[in-house]
Amino acid sequence: MPHAPCRSPLWPAVAKGAGLSHTGVRMSKRFYITTAIDYVNGLPHLGHAYEKVITDVIARSQRSLGRPAFFLTGTDEHGQKVQQAALAEGKAPQAYCDELAAVFKQFAARLQLSNDDFIRTTEPRHKTLVQAILSKLHAEGHFYKANYTGFYSTKEETFLTERERRPDGTFDPKWGTVIELSEDNYYFRMGRHQQWLIDYIEANPDFVYPDYRRNEVLGFLKSQPLEDLCISRPATRLNWGIPLPFDPQFVTYVWFDALSNYVTAPGSLGDPTVLAVLDPEGRLVKPNPEVQLWPADAHVIGKDIIKFHAVYWPIMLKAMGLPLPRQILVHGWWQKDEAKMSKSTGNIVDPLAVIDEWGVDAFRYYLVRELDIGPDGNWTDAGFAARYHADLANGLGNLVNRTLAMLKRYRNGVVPTRSTELAGEAAQTTGQVRTHLEAYRLKAALESVWALVTRANQYVDQTAPFRLAKDPAQAARLDAVLYSLAETCRVLAVLLWPFLPGTAAKIYAQLGLSGEPNQFTAAQWGGLTPGQTIGEPTPLFPRKDQPRGGASKPG
Ligand code: MSP
Repeated sequence: MPHAPCRSPLWPAVAKGAGLSHTGVRMSKRFYITTAIDYVNGLPHLGHAYEKVITDVIARSQRSLGRPAFFLTGTDEHGQKVQQAALAEGKAPQAYCDELAAVFKQFAARLQLSNDDFIRTTEPRHKTLVQAILSKLHAEGHFYKANYTGFYSTKEETFLTERERRPDGTFDPKWGTVIELSEDNYYFRMGRHQQWLIDYIEANPDFVYPDYRRNEVLGFLKSQPLEDLCISRPATRLNWGIPLPFDPQFVTYVWFDALSNYVTAPGSLGDPTVLAVLDPEGRLVKPNPEVQLWPADAHVIGKDIIKFHAVYWPIMLKAMGLPLPRQILVHGWWQKDEAKMSKSTGNIVDPLAVIDEWGVDAFRYYLVRELDIGPDGNWTDAGFAARYHADLANGLGNLVNRTLAMLKRYRNGVVPTRSTELAGEAAQTTGQVRTHLEAYRLKAALESVWALVTRANQYVDQTAPFRLAKDPAQAARLDAVLYSLAETCRVLAVLLWPFLPGTAAKIYAQLGLSGEPNQFTAAQWGGLTPGQTIGEPTPLFPRKDQPRGGASKPG
């Protein structure tokens, strides 16, 4: 099991980022979380969905815990992969990107992401600030121009050295077609950065999470001198990129362009920390003291792109003079049925088809419940259906449905006098969930929530309200049981909101409550008001393995 990121003292960013705006209002730095930006060379897939969903759960949980959060996602639109995909469809790259970016934005909406911004690397706001970064680093002597003759992987858009060569002189098929090239390019001097980065990662054990990924980065950094990074491509060979401001014969290397999005988005919105470095004379963007985002609190990425985020990105930031992000959260990769997902073999999970069939919350639930941030995951359709029925339909859905149906049947839908029979269990769960959410232990948080679901379902079986209802002398007892159950459902809605926002809202509405259960403090026991009328009970997760109508029975 990976260790949780240590995050104490609680929310140091708030304290560090506090300052006064020009209006004298005390402003705080917001919790700023990002995802990788997706290549638009194909349609969004399960891997994209997983990363965006876990990031959304973290962003929502921070907001619920009372901390303003800013969630950035977007699309990576330059470079050879995208240019080739556009060509293959006979489209101009920009028109192709416009279409695909719209698809990715719709995908974000279908996943119910609560992102505050969506950055596209072909937007002028991004390109302008990337050029500002390049100009600054060039002026400060971080780049040099040189000729290179050697091997180049077109698939990975990267130069290869003898190290990547196998003893028989060939290259691993993962590099695709390898060609020999001789060309001029601009290089970023890396040598001076290697030691401080090693020291930094050693001194800040939470910088890369989980720890086995940190060790991987340290192993890489300590094993060899860091080669200078080629940050350009000749426009004659690849023109789908941002021209270097100091030499328009070249475009920017796609990774330099893409990584910059984490600061160009806040910069474009006026983040003073970013602009003080990239636009000190205020020529490009007006600073807005209300947008205090940088440094990011977490970059959420997949394991394949760790070197870019834990080596090149910190070095780029250090060279710019910007503080480093607090943490890089590295998630694993999903397979399906123990095999790599691939369109050509047909072994894929289509997120939109799953959402259409089972609902977005069932999809979000499976992803988060099944896989912690770190290890690889394995999707099986049978596993998905089993979780749906056991946890969602028979567990949560049944609890809420029978609680509300009993309230309707035995108390005309009116909430009875307060009681505290499950208050202790609910408070314990609330405490556990808070601790897990603060440490990004999302799977563990769901496990705690489901312990309460199970406990409440047992409580129905133990107290047997349908029997109490038959005996008028047990009226007060029945009131106590029904209140405790309904209040538990309300608490569950609050705890579940970051994970299953739609379901949480439905539970609130069915309880007759207005607003969204989006504030963790509302998980305090006793929120349901006696005398209040509940709404209509409707099954939250209809069963799919038997005819409709058998899903939930009261009592
Ligand atoms: N464009 C770059 C990222 C630039 S970030 C400055 C890129 N794009 S990608 O579309 O190939 O991948 C986007 C994210 O999806 C990456 O974090 C990647 O690890 C993740 N995933 C892609 N396939 C995945 C799985 N099968 N499972 C889980 N996540 C995976 O890389």
